[in-house]
Amino acid sequence: MSDYTSGSTAENEDFSAFIANVRKATSIDLSQYKETQMRRRLTTLRVKNGFPDFTSYFKAIMDEPRLRNEFLDRMTINVSEFWRNPNRWTLLMERFLPDMLKRSPKLKVWSAACSTGEEPYTIAMILDRLGALGQATLIASDIDEGVLARAKNGVYPERSVREVPKEMAAAYLSGSGDAFQVDEKLKRAVRFQKQNLLFDDFQDGFDLIVCRNVMIYFTEEAKQQLYEKFAKALKPGGILFVGSTEQIFSPGQYGLETADTFFYRRIV
Ligand SMILES: C[S@@+](CC[C@H](N)C(=O)[O-])C[C@H]1O[C@@H](n2cnc3c(N)ncnc32)[C@H](O)[C@@H]1O
Repeated sequence: MSDYTSGSTAENEDFSAFIANVRKATSIDLSQYKETQMRRRLTTLRVKNGFPDFTSYFKAIMDEPRLRNEFLDRMTINVSEFWRNPNRWTLLMERFLPDMLKRSPKLKVWSAACSTGEEPYTIAMILDRLGALGQATLIASDIDEGVLARAKNGVYPERSVREVPKEMAAAYLSGSGDAFQVDEKLKRAVRFQKQNLLFDDFQDGFDLIVCRNVMIYFTEEAKQQLYEKFAKALKPGGILFVGSTEQIFSPGQYGLETADTFFYRRIV
């Protein structure tokens, strides 16, 4: 738990009570997110909507779906992109996945905190290119139902797809401008589901878990718990792929070793 030191005592108590109420009502534990960033974002939102404190704001988000959705949207920062940090995806495609496929043609893959679907569809393109999509199980999850609905729809603006290699774009995307559509074959291959990484149980037996650009929002304690859960969810030899500001310090404590920058392997 962080200490709420950035406001007056009354303000800090008001915000602490808000966190406790949100946890009771939604299972979302805001105390596991970095406090300064989270509090700043939520304060801006509360003030914009004209609420003098978090107590009145909480009542309003319970009563009004529009405010509740806006709150969920703001606490979950949904920015994503296909092939974000391209050279890491190339490494996954040219080295890690071919190695895994030598051991087993049936891969179990999870895109955790997948936002609007750019990441699982990037994985699906790569698996298809390697001839492994048909036999793969590809799960994609996020805490936010709104982004999952958009992910299932599979339509993206140009800025989301600009890093997709040309030959991949030609094979798996159609349309132009504000509406690039993902090929039906990829859409059928991804199983989207709602999941809270900080609360729900994980499946296991994964060859690959991709979890990028969400752990930066979590406290150290929450991150450590998550690394442990991810390590257990991997097969021995399985790979965890993290975001480019999310290196794991001392991966050995979780039963992981560094396989390359931003890639960690479960030690057998
Ligand atoms: C910045 S996006 C990252 C998207 C994608 N992984 C990428 O790197 O491009 C962060 C996502 O994490 C999700 N998220 C935040 N807290 C979560 C939690 N506790 N459990 C699952 N997903 C969460 C948000 O809804 C959001 O879609």
